[in-house]
Amino acid sequence: MFRLFLLILCIQWFSQCKPKEAMPVADEASRMASADATFKKFCSTCHGDNGDVFVDRQWKHGRTRDSIMMNIRAGFPDLGMPKWDSVITEQEAADLADYLMKAIENRKKFDFQDSVRSSVFVHESMTVKLDTIARGLENPWGMAFLPNGDFLYTDRNGNLYRQSKGVQSMVKGAPQVVAEGQGGLLDVELSPDFANNQTIYLSYSKLKDTAGQKLATTAVQKAKLSGNQITGQKDIFIAMPYQKTRHHYGSRIEFDSTGFMFITVGDRGQHMDSLPQKLDNDMGKVHRIREDGSIPDDNPFYNTPGARKSIWSYGHRNLQGMALQPGTNTIWTHEHGPRGGDELNIPEKGKNYGWPVISYGINYDGTILTPLTHKEGMEQPLVRWVPSIGPSGLTFVKGNKYPAWEGDILMGSLRFRYLERVAIDGKTPGEKENLLKGIGRLRFVEMGPDGFIYVGVEEPGYIFRLLPVDNPSAN
Ligand code: HEC
Repeated sequence: MFRLFLLILCIQWFSQCKPKEAMPVADEASRMASADATFKKFCSTCHGDNGDVFVDRQWKHGRTRDSIMMNIRAGFPDLGMPKWDSVITEQEAADLADYLMKAIENRKKFDFQDSVRSSVFVHESMTVKLDTIARGLENPWGMAFLPNGDFLYTDRNGNLYRQSKGVQSMVKGAPQVVAEGQGGLLDVELSPDFANNQTIYLSYSKLKDTAGQKLATTAVQKAKLSGNQITGQKDIFIAMPYQKTRHHYGSRIEFDSTGFMFITVGDRGQHMDSLPQKLDNDMGKVHRIREDGSIPDDNPFYNTPGARKSIWSYGHRNLQGMALQPGTNTIWTHEHGPRGGDELNIPEKGKNYGWPVISYGINYDGTILTPLTHKEGMEQPLVRWVPSIGPSGLTFVKGNKYPAWEGDILMGSLRFRYLERVAIDGKTPGEKENLLKGIGRLRFVEMGPDGFIYVGVEEPGYIFRLLPVDNPSAN
C-alpha cells in the first residue's frame, strides 16, 4: 500500500517536473489565431491590421518576450498606449507577445550578415557567378546598352560613362546636377530609335537658385551621343514645382512598346501637403510624354482644368523601378513605401495609388501614418513588402540563359543588399526568392541585349554580370 502511494507520488511529481514538451503545431496555430483576434479587437485602432507594424519598428521599450508582455499589460498611458492589465489576461498577453515576436522573426530572415564569401551564389532555383564589369564607382544608378555592344552608365555623383570592350571613358556634356541627399545624375535610357537618331535621355536632380535659396527637382534631359561626348542637350521634362528637399526624386525612365516615354517622380517628401493626391503638381506621379517633350492629348487629365497634363497615374511615394513587361504593353513600377509599405504596381491610366491617404507603412519611429489601408477609388498594390526592402531597379528576365527565372521580375534591395525575384504569371505575382544575398546596396538591374543580367551595387560601386552556372559543384 505504502509502495503504491509512493508510486503515485512519484508519477505526480514526475508529470509536474518533466520538461514541458513543445506545443503541438495545431495548438500553436490556434493560439496565434486567437492572438490575432485579440490584436484586432484591442490593438488595431492604433497599431494597424495585424502585427506587421512591429516588424520594422525601432523598438523603444524592449523587444524580448517578457518586456513585450509587461509593456502590453502596463501600457504607457503618458505616451498614448493604454494599460491593458484589467482587460487582457496574463495568458493573452503572452500569446500577443509571441505573436509580435513572430513578426520580429520575419525581419531577421533578411539579416544576410555573413554576406559574400565567394563570387558564386547558389540559389534553390539556379546558381550564378559574378563577372565584374565595372569598378571604382560610387553610386552607379542607371545603365543602357548601345547597339554596337558598348554601354552607358551613370554615377549619382554626376559622372556619365561609356564602356567599350572593357575600356571605361567619361562622357563629356552631362548635365550639372545637385548631388546631395538622394539627388544627382540618375537614370539613362536610349531612344527606341537610337540606331537612327543617337538620342539618349538622362534623368537628374536639377538646381534652381532663387534669391540664394537652392531648390531642386527631377528633370529629364534629351541629348545626342557621339563618341564620348553628348551635344544638343535639352530638358524635355522638368517636374514642377521645385522643392527645398533633397530626396524622393523617383526618376526612372522607360518606353512602352508604342514609343511613349514614362517618367517617375517621387513625392519629394511633401506628403504632408498631400502633393501626390493633387493633380496641380508633378510630385508622386507617373508621367507620360513623347520623345520631344510634347504631351499626348489622350493622357487622362489632359483636359482637366488646373491639372498637369503629363500625369498618367498619381498617389505614388518614391518610384525607383519601372519596366515594360516583354511581349506586352504593360508598364510595371515599384515604390518605396514608408516602413512596411513598399509596393509593386501596374500604374494604369488615371488611377490613384493612394499615397499618403492609404498605406501599409508606418512612420520610421513606428507610429501609425494613416489608419487606412483601403479606400474606394484607390488601388491596392499587387505585392507589398513587410519589412520594407528599399526597392530600386526593376527588370523582367527574358531569353533562355536563366530558364528558372524566365518572365519573372528582378528588383534590387538597397536596405537588405540582395536581389529580389518575384515570379510572374501574366499579371499575377507569385513566390519570392532572395538572390545574391549580401552582395551590396543593389541599385539597378537590367537585361543586356547579350541575354545576361547586369546589376549595379553602390558604396563601393560595382557593376556585375550574372553568369549562369550549370553545375555548381564543378566550381
Ligand atoms: C490608443 C492607441 C493604442 C492602442 C489601442 C494600443 N497601443 Fe500599443 N502603443 C501605443 C503607442 C502610442 C505606443 C508607443 C509609445 C512610445 O512611442 O513610446 C505603443 C507602444 C506599444 C508597444 C511598445 C513598442 C516598443 O517600441 O517597445 C507594444 C509592444 C504595444 N504598444 C503593443 C500593443 C498591443 C499588443 C496592443 C493591444 C492589446 C496595443 N499596443 C494597443 C498606442 C496604442
